[in-house]
Amino acid sequence: MDIGIIGAGQIGSILARRLAALGHQVRIANSRGPESLVALAAETGATASTVEQAASARDVVIVTIPQKAVPELPRGLFAGSTAVVVDTGNYYPARDGRINAIDKGLPDSEWVAQVLGRPVVKAFSNIVAASLDSRGKPRGTTGRVCLSVAGDDPAAKRVVLRLLDELGFDGLDAGSLAESWRQQPGTPAYCMDLDRTALQAALSKPDAAGIARRRQAADEQARSFFEAREGRPR
Ligand SMILES: NC(=O)c1ccc[n+]([C@@H]2O[C@H](COP(=O)([O-])OP(=O)(O)OC[C@H]3O[C@@H](n4cnc5c(N)ncnc54)[C@H](OP(=O)(O)O)[C@@H]3O)[C@@H](O)[C@H]2O)c1
Repeated sequence: MDIGIIGAGQIGSILARRLAALGHQVRIANSRGPESLVALAAETGATASTVEQAASARDVVIVTIPQKAVPELPRGLFAGSTAVVVDTGNYYPARDGRINAIDKGLPDSEWVAQVLGRPVVKAFSNIVAASLDSRGKPRGTTGRVCLSVAGDDPAAKRVVLRLLDELGFDGLDAGSLAESWRQQPGTPAYCMDLDRTALQAALSKPDAAGIARRRQAADEQARSFFEAREGRPR
């Protein structure tokens, strides 16, 4: 497939490396331009690109940047695109500042879809980078890690579920984007490396009334991590 990745940090670089190794054509972009991605491109086999070039990939575009950076993407970035757009993002106020619409209850990825003016599929959002990099296993392996995929377009979700399988993970259709709060930070389905049965149970556990409380707890836990990363050379 022709795949674009916007964001070349922890998640973007792992996906670039793994997807290129699977034989996909991968373009990767960051905020600083293709010149800053020469080494990553050489190492992963992906092509260093501008954000616009990555967004013009034919089949899938993965947006994997901090939530606060989504409004900084060029307006109309996906105009004319028929690619499946995947959002890996999570809202952490400690990193992203306050986003009122989400604070009022809009699921993180519904907000991203609104800002992009484009439906998205939420995936790769509830696995830590280290696990994404190392825990892929062949289909049928006992205890294979399962990842949830939420979105409103069944065909788009099928494309992402196929990619997950290629990458070594089971996949679970977790319903609509409106339901995607079930895999947000602080939920039982967030970054626990669960297998299919356990993930299914975890997704059905939380109640919508606890979204803000769970986010706050996850945010407090992550605050020192984000503070330590802030100011580190890129
Ligand atoms: N890390 C994890 O374990 C993990 C797990 C699941 C989900 N997530 C979520 O996935 C998203 C990405 O996380 P990450 O940890 O991979 O982030 P990261 O390591 O901080 O990398 C962020 C990337 O986004 C790029 N970026 C920032 N603003 C941009 C813009 N305006 N245009 C283009 N690119 C831009 C940065 O490019 P520059 O360096 O050039 O600015 C960088 O390559 C976040 O929402 C995060 O919460 C992360």
